[in-house]
Amino acid sequence: MAKLDKVLITGSSKGLGKSLATYFFEKGHEVILHGRDELTLKNIKTKISEADSIDYYACDLNSEKDVVNLSKYANSKNVNLLINNAGIHCANKDFIDLDISYINNIINVNLRAPILLSYSMLKTLNGIININSMSGIETKKFRTLYAATKWGLKGFSNCLKHELENKTILDVYPTNIKTNKQIVHGMEIDIVTKSIYKSYYNNESELILDGRKKNE
Ligand SMILES: NC(=O)c1ccc[n+]([C@@H]2O[C@H](COP(=O)([O-])OP(=O)(O)OC[C@H]3O[C@@H](n4cnc5c(N)ncnc54)[C@H](OP(=O)(O)O)[C@@H]3O)[C@@H](O)[C@H]2O)c1
Repeated sequence: MAKLDKVLITGSSKGLGKSLATYFFEKGHEVILHGRDELTLKNIKTKISEADSIDYYACDLNSEKDVVNLSKYANSKNVNLLINNAGIHCANKDFIDLDISYINNIINVNLRAPILLSYSMLKTLNGIININSMSGIETKKFRTLYAATKWGLKGFSNCLKHELENKTILDVYPTNIKTNKQIVHGMEIDIVTKSIYKSYYNNESELILDGRKKNE
């Protein structure tokens, strides 16, 4: 049997990333958790398993230096699947009311970090999963910066697919996932997680998961 991919999942301290980390681990993969707070990651690791096959690395994707160090760590651990999941959500504000720090932060986390991680880790990767959004396909009021980062990620990823024929690159376009208790309608996170896993190992290049009610 072929060796299972060793996975780095950015933003796996909560939400979809945490669910993906748990599922990959259950499937027998070695997993590196990531988020900004080391203690949170340590607690999640302990909750999932005490086994050495689950590891964690804390850093801020808003910092270029931290992103480079994360890629060095992942390379030293022979990671061969990168899941670019960490993301900052839309601010639900008019473009003119956004502050500069939010604009820089969302571009750095949602777009620059996935590009830099892909660049620094590409040689040893079998593939990449980019967690995009329906905002990477559609346009809407109050989504200016969020959509800019997700459309940017889509452009980057789809062009890279033309250059890399021997690697699987999956772009996931979800909306309305029940990632926390406040979200009462939408897709169950477990179903989304399993769909992503299946789609990647079926060598698919795109997965659209629309959890909205009709007319929403
Ligand atoms: N939830 C949805 O319905 C939905 C819909 C469409 C697309 N998506 C996409 O799915 C992905 C995950 O969404 P989610 O709802 O699960 O998000 P979430 O629950 O808000 O979790 C976001 C993750 O990103 C990490 N993160 C945020 N800023 C970071 C930074 N500066 N440095 C390092 N890590 C950072 C957070 O870590 P810490 O805060 O612990 O540091 C956390 O682990 C995102 O890319 C999002 O755009 C989600």
